[in-house]
Amino acid sequence: MSLPDLIHRPRRLRKNPAIRSLVRETSISPSDFIYPLFVDETITEAVAVKSMPGVSRIPLSDVGKVVRECAALGIPGIILFGIPAEKDATGSGGWDANGIVQRAIREAKNSSPESYVIADTCFCEYTDHGHCGVLDGDEVDNDATLANLQKEAISYAEAGVDMIAPSGMMDGMIAAIRAGLDSAGFKDLPIMSYAVKYASAYFGPFRDAADSSPSFGDRASYQMDPANSREALREAMLDIEEGADILMVKPGLAYMDIIRSVKDITDLPVAVYNVSGEYAMVKAAAENGWIDEKRLVLETMLSFKRAGADLILSYHALDVARWLNDD
Ligand code: PBG
Ligand code: ZN
Repeated sequence: MSLPDLIHRPRRLRKNPAIRSLVRETSISPSDFIYPLFVDETITEAVAVKSMPGVSRIPLSDVGKVVRECAALGIPGIILFGIPAEKDATGSGGWDANGIVQRAIREAKNSSPESYVIADTCFCEYTDHGHCGVLDGDEVDNDATLANLQKEAISYAEAGVDMIAPSGMMDGMIAAIRAGLDSAGFKDLPIMSYAVKYASAYFGPFRDAADSSPSFGDRASYQMDPANSREALREAMLDIEEGADILMVKPGLAYMDIIRSVKDITDLPVAVYNVSGEYAMVKAAAENGWIDEKRLVLETMLSFKRAGADLILSYHALDVARWLNDD
């Protein structure tokens, strides 16, 4: 039997490293990354997070060191999560001028002024019930929470933060925070919206790390149903209209389709949060010797970019930057 005459031979462009690098469509660099930090007001030495090997809760006194380490590796930004000593029903620690995140912001900016400091803006770490806002009975009261988000965002702004990142999935949170910041004189402070955030089992290890599990129920009445993708576009559109500067999709791995479809409807930068459960799975497999951690992580990060992400929030950021810098 004769073979067909092949006109198209894609392998021609895969022949050696030189041609492969010339036709490569996507790349990753340390400058694509934001590293999450858990700052714990109740400790004086770093405490490892069991379900996230390589990640620790750190005391305020370590913030400068870690932020400088990121900067030295070429990672431009960090995102802060605070674990306060005291919690209450409204999460008022979130707008305390001397709160743990406010102090961490000042510490980070003092020790590494060129680093970009982002504050996760929510209440689940600050409320004694662990929900992302004020309760009315068993429900999170949307509009009462908006008023508190304004206070929290302004307080972070006054502490010197570079960007506000509201993660609570309250309706109108971008409009409310924008109005609050503008009226307080912070018209140039950008907002990265956790625009499309699913009620996900992938957040499990984070809630250990941040001590932010809801004490009853779940977050399904404010975070999105994993079954929905048109709703993701609606959430993204609303945040665009409300003035978001960057749109985030979260989690990442199981939602690559969502990253792509959000990217296709906006010219705004798109961020992805490679969340705690995604990290934990990779670490567990790597510790067992079942996967090649470096190759697998670099492939995953590249895939986020290919799917449409411009920025990546990841617990792997330090390792990724070291690997990229070494090569
Ligand atoms: C708080 C918040 C969560 C994450 C980021 N901000 C958890 C949640 O919604 O319960 C998850 C991050 C991760 O899993 O790495 N609203
Ligand atoms: Zn929250």
